[in-house]
Amino acid sequence: MADSDRAHALIWDTAAGAAAYRRRDMRLARQLIFPAVLDRLGSPPSSGAVAIDLGCGTGVLAAHIARARGWTVKALDISPHMLDVARTDNPHPGVDYILFGGRSLSEFEDDSIDAAVCCLVYCTDPDDHRLAALTAEIHRVLRPGGPYILADLNPDATGAQFSTLRYGEPGITYADGDSPAVVLRQLDGTDVTMACHFRSSATYASMLTAAGFPAPEVELPTAAMPPDAAESRVAPYMVLTTHAVPAAD
Ligand SMILES: C[S@@+](CC[C@H](N)C(=O)[O-])C[C@H]1O[C@@H](n2cnc3c(N)ncnc32)[C@H](O)[C@@H]1O
Repeated sequence: MADSDRAHALIWDTAAGAAAYRRRDMRLARQLIFPAVLDRLGSPPSSGAVAIDLGCGTGVLAAHIARARGWTVKALDISPHMLDVARTDNPHPGVDYILFGGRSLSEFEDDSIDAAVCCLVYCTDPDDHRLAALTAEIHRVLRPGGPYILADLNPDATGAQFSTLRYGEPGITYADGDSPAVVLRQLDGTDVTMACHFRSSATYASMLTAAGFPAPEVELPTAAMPPDAAESRVAPYMVLTTHAVPAAD
């Protein structure tokens, strides 16, 4: 992160972070992430099947999953401020918004959850140990075969100016441990700078396999329109899909 960005970057789980994120321009995320997540998630395997949304933020995706596919969603976040926005802006009878510590899913039994989604969260959390613990917990609570869909900023697209965001500075190569800011376009056309934490694609894959998941399938969705936009050439986001496997005896 350049010094000027570092001074202005907002932290996600603060009141200011939640207020800024509430005003983001979501068009690109809605166009590229939401359909990929719904495709990978599929329909609930039974009535009352439960999906967990880890780091649900303002609840847009959790409510979309409940509305579009009929999943019962347990939507968890470490930020009471984000959850306040979620309960206000995206209430849905099929979604419970729950505050947790970002690490343990002790409220859920082993093999009790049918699917898990985590969208744009790992890039916001600087704590490798907490994410490793959370990833292992996701594997524990998922029933064998249950999908885990992890969507995030594409670490191979830093510096590209997309229509609604830029992750990191052009011309800089980032490595694990670096903290490039993400600049998000707001609904009023202004920009806000938020703190992020870089991990390579290989690191994402190894975080999943270390938690017991098979190596993920990687999807890099690009936009068809407009043809001259950066997002038609380079994927702003990546969508990783894996699934829980039975625990070894
Ligand atoms: C960029 S927002 C994404 C919110 C939402 N998933 C979305 O796609 O719009 C990141 C969210 O992750 C939350 N977060 C960060 N670290 C977390 C962790 N270890 N566990 C759960 N939530 C976390 C933050 O509080 C914030 O609400």
